[in-house]
Amino acid sequence: MSSVSLIGAGNMARAMARGWRAGDGGPDEIFISDSGSGSAESLATEVGGVAVSGASEAFSSSGIAFLAVKPATLALVAEQANSFSGTVVSLLAGTELSLVTASFPEAQCVRVMPNVAVEKRRGVLCRTVPASSGSNESDEGDLAELLAVLGHVVEIPERLFDAATAVMGCAPAYFALVAEAIADSGVRAGLPEDLAAELVSETLAGTAELLDDRDTLALRRAVTSPGGSTAAGLAALERGAVRAVFAEAVAASIERMKE
Ligand SMILES: NC(=O)c1ccc[n+]([C@@H]2O[C@H](COP(=O)([O-])OP(=O)(O)OC[C@H]3O[C@@H](n4cnc5c(N)ncnc54)[C@H](OP(=O)(O)O)[C@@H]3O)[C@@H](O)[C@H]2O)c1
Repeated sequence: MSSVSLIGAGNMARAMARGWRAGDGGPDEIFISDSGSGSAESLATEVGGVAVSGASEAFSSSGIAFLAVKPATLALVAEQANSFSGTVVSLLAGTELSLVTASFPEAQCVRVMPNVAVEKRRGVLCRTVPASSGSNESDEGDLAELLAVLGHVVEIPERLFDAATAVMGCAPAYFALVAEAIADSGVRAGLPEDLAAELVSETLAGTAELLDDRDTLALRRAVTSPGGSTAAGLAALERGAVRAVFAEAVAASIERMKE
């Protein structure tokens, strides 16, 4: 029987809890805490979890605690950890594992970077490589299963975390912006707003599936007849320096994580 505690009940905690409850394989019990806003109670009601009184009670409730608070709140919640000796899973962007380990000296600490698509069990979850010694094998096994339920888990060295975060943690917002821009363009070309949004989001979902088994170049070639309408559109995007803008976006995200 597995249980988890969520320290925080905001966007990421909600996405993970919903993902676990979207089918089989999630934790049997989810204990949820907030900073006093009532968000834990409403999330617990939604996902059949248990709202607890705060971080302190959350740490006492399960051997696996997910830190789903803003990075600046790390020290505050660590003060409420009561010498927690289970597994701390840090979701904190831009926060080195050494800092988390120093904050929870008696716990096994793991760094995981999920994206919001965990809510649909189609997330990407980057994680640090499990420690070869000193970790509780049963907790590590439970954690591996809990993460796998939420999507595609990739083990990466910690030095790649910020770049990975900029690419997969932030990218759902970038894709949403691109989808919005294409739909708006469709509206300008005469499509009703709802229809434009439907056409774009279904196309995005279908394109994601196609990219499961082919690379981006093969996909672009399959859609782009020489001298055709897609070629004209792609040329306009290149004139608009779309690649350079995305490069700037990723670099800006990484820069912000270091602040
Ligand atoms: N959002 C994403 O797409 C995403 C992706 C990857 C990683 N992350 C990481 O996930 C973490 C959370 O991000 P978020 O977007 O979910 O933030 P969020 O929506 O602002 O949620 C933060 C949560 O922390 C709670 N909190 C604050 N102080 C607390 C305390 N002392 N004890 C217990 N709970 C406390 C807040 O409680 P109240 O509800 O009472 O205010 C809130 O529920 C961040 O470190 C972020 O870097 C987020």
